[in-house]
Order: sequence, then C-alpha cells, then structure tokens
Amino acid sequence: MSICQASRQATRPAIRQRISTIIPRHSTPSAPRSVRWLSSTSVRASDGSKADPYRSSSTAAAPFDKEAHEGSFSRTDRGVSFEYPAEQDFPRSQIVQGRGGPHFKRTLPSFSLEGRVAVVTGGARGLGLVMGQALVASGADLAIVDLNNDEAAHQAKELVAHFEKENPASEGDDRAKIPNGKKSGVSRTPKVTAHYSDVADPDSVTSALSEIIKEHGKIDHLVTSAGFTENYDAVAYPYDRMKKLWGVNVDGTYLFSTGVAKHLMERNAPGSIVMIGSMSGAIVNVPQPQAPYNAAKAAVRHLAASLAVEWAHANIRVNCISPGYMLTALKILDDNPNLKSQWTSLIPVGKMGRPEDLMGAVTFLLSDASGYVTGAELRVDGGYTVT
Ligand SMILES: NC(=O)c1ccc[n+]([C@@H]2O[C@H](COP(=O)([O-])OP(=O)(O)OC[C@H]3O[C@@H](n4cnc5c(N)ncnc54)[C@H](O)[C@@H]3O)[C@@H](O)[C@H]2O)c1
Repeated sequence: MSICQASRQATRPAIRQRISTIIPRHSTPSAPRSVRWLSSTSVRASDGSKADPYRSSSTAAAPFDKEAHEGSFSRTDRGVSFEYPAEQDFPRSQIVQGRGGPHFKRTLPSFSLEGRVAVVTGGARGLGLVMGQALVASGADLAIVDLNNDEAAHQAKELVAHFEKENPASEGDDRAKIPNGKKSGVSRTPKVTAHYSDVADPDSVTSALSEIIKEHGKIDHLVTSAGFTENYDAVAYPYDRMKKLWGVNVDGTYLFSTGVAKHLMERNAPGSIVMIGSMSGAIVNVPQPQAPYNAAKAAVRHLAASLAVEWAHANIRVNCISPGYMLTALKILDDNPNLKSQWTSLIPVGKMGRPEDLMGAVTFLLSDASGYVTGAELRVDGGYTVT
C-alpha cells in the first residue's frame, strides 16, 4: 500500500464520522438534502477546530515570512531586486566553437537557409548572437542589429572568420563567382553586416531596415532578440524604467516585425519571423519579482499569434520561441548566488539551458522545414513550464 493510500484510509473513518454528523443517516444521494454536501465544506472550514481535516491541511502563512512556510517556494521575494546594468558592464559574448562546418551528417534540405537574408535584433550578444551564428551556419546572410554598434561590427567579423575556419573550402562572398547554393561542395562565405538601431524608436527602426535592404538587397527572415529584464517589487518599480522595458521588449518587437512584413508584402515574397519571448510570458518566475517583464513577454507571445493570423494571407509565418533560464551574462546571479540553485530545483532536466540550445529551434522555425507552423510558441525551457 502506498503512503498516500495509507493516509487516505487512515483519514477516511474520521471524515465519514464528520459527514455522518452533518448528513442524517436517512438521507440518500437522490434526496434534495444532498446539497448539504456542498454547504458542509464551508461549515467545516470556519469551525476553527484543529481536528478539522480541511484546516489541518492548509495554512495562512504570514506575508513576507522569512522562514520556509507553505507556499514560500512559489512566492516572489521583494528583497530580490536587480537593475539592468549599463552596456559597458556586460562581458563580451563568445560564439559557439566547433559546431558548424560542412555537413557530415545528412539532414533535410528544407532546414537550409541558403540564399536567404536574415535579420537578428539584439544580435551582438547573448542568445541573439548565437542564433545569428546558427543562421549563418545554415546558409543565410545575416544583418546584426544592435544598440551597441561596435560590438555588432566586431561579432560580424568574428562570425565570418569563424565560418571560414570551419569551412576551409569556402570562397568569399562574391555572389557572381558562387551563386547561392549553385556550386556543390563549396560553401559561399556568408555576408554578415552590423547595423545600429534602438528597436524602441520608430525612426531608428526605419533607417536600419532601409540600410539593411540597401546592403543585402532584401530581407527574408527576422529574429527579434533585443530585450532585457530587471527586477523590482511592482510597487517600487521606477515608472520610466518600466516604460523602457516595455518599449524594447514589446514596441521593439512590433516595430521590427511590421517593418519586415511590409517589405515582404511589397516584394510579394514569402518570409518568416521568430519573436523571442520567454517562459515568463506563461508563468510567474520566483523568487525574483518581475511583473512588467512577464507581462511584456506574454504580449510578445500573443503578438506572434495575432500577426501570424493577420499575415497568413501574405505567406508570412510568425512564431515565438520562449526560452527558460539560459546561461547568458545573467548579472543578477552575481549579486544573488543562491538564485541559480533555486531556479534549477524547479527545472525538470535539472540544469539551465545554453544559448546553443536555441540554434536548432530558431533554424527550424525560420526555415521551410516548419512550413505549416505559424502562430506557435516553442518553449525551450528544460520542462520548467510543464510542472
Ligand atoms: N537569458 C535568458 O535566460 C533569457 C530567457 C528567456 C528569454 N530571454 C530573452 O532573450 C532575449 C535575449 O536575451 P539575452 O540574455 O541574450 O540578453 P543580452 O542582454 O545578453 O543581449 C541583448 C542584446 O540586445 C541589445 N539591446 C538591448 N536593448 C536594445 C535596443 N533598445 N535596441 C537594440 N538592441 C538592444 C543589447 O545591446 C544586447 O546586445 C531577450 O529578449 C530576453 O528577454 C532571455
């Protein structure tokens, strides 16, 4: 007998006894009196008796109790506060080593992005940089868009140099010499460019898009990775910072997506967009409070679904990737070293994700391999949100 069965059997006689005091023996399930089954719950809950099975299995812990108590592991802690750092305080991100190169293993050709031009916002660092690398390895030319233009330019050169190292048979990005995908056995070196834009500013978005179209001739795909989180108890959140957070995460996603969709419609060309949301758009992270970020990522997820419907007629697919806790420069962990173990204790696979765990997901959703997938959310979270 399991522990649960044993405890159920032990408590049953007590429950039967209580019920018998509420419902007279002569009552039958079909009698109108059976409604007392419902009303009996509230009577028991408020009788104050410690022997009451309802009261003994529930508590009302004091708010902000420091000690562990019922519910404490599922609550936010107002003591965990974190402001998004200044740009110069972030370490440089590294691109993934040793995962590209010529294909030694066969895979579906529909995963290839050969001949496509992709834009990644927030592509100079973290998840955006590694997703951009995945697109380059899959055959696309890439435009990195970022607030930090110097870093974007540095990483654009790094990506090309790395590609050439991993693909010694590659030949420069001279399109006339090697038309896209036409010369088998030789990889064309991708064209990777860097562009300044503040994604929250409509004028800045418009000028970045026209610069990209001028340099690459077209845009086929977009990944919106520019975004950030910070942590304040909601009642203490500085309003200007909250507006900025929504501006980058929500307005930025909207502005870039509508700009690229307009370009695709003008070209009468198919295309696909991947918005980077977060599992925070579906659950509430603990213990760090971050209500505006969670709401912003919920908006991103539903924006993807809504625009997928709106642009289906134009053959433009829109999907959302919602990562869980990923090992980027999460500076909140510097100030709160215990957070990592708290987070991983809630992740079924028992570890945080690596940026490269998004490489396959983003390639799939942008490529023709996902031709019938639109308006979907792909959670890459080690199972966090299913428990
Ligand atoms: N790291 C995680 O654990 C995690 C989890 C879920 C979702 N996400 C989401 O993934 C995306 C990328 O996160 P990351 O960890 O790589 O962040 P990051 O801070 O490492 O990189 C973000 C990049 O966006 C750029 N950026 C910021 N504001 C910008 C603006 N206004 N205009 C243009 N570029 C701007 C930054 O300069 C930086 O290069 C974000 O949308 C984030 O919310 C991250």
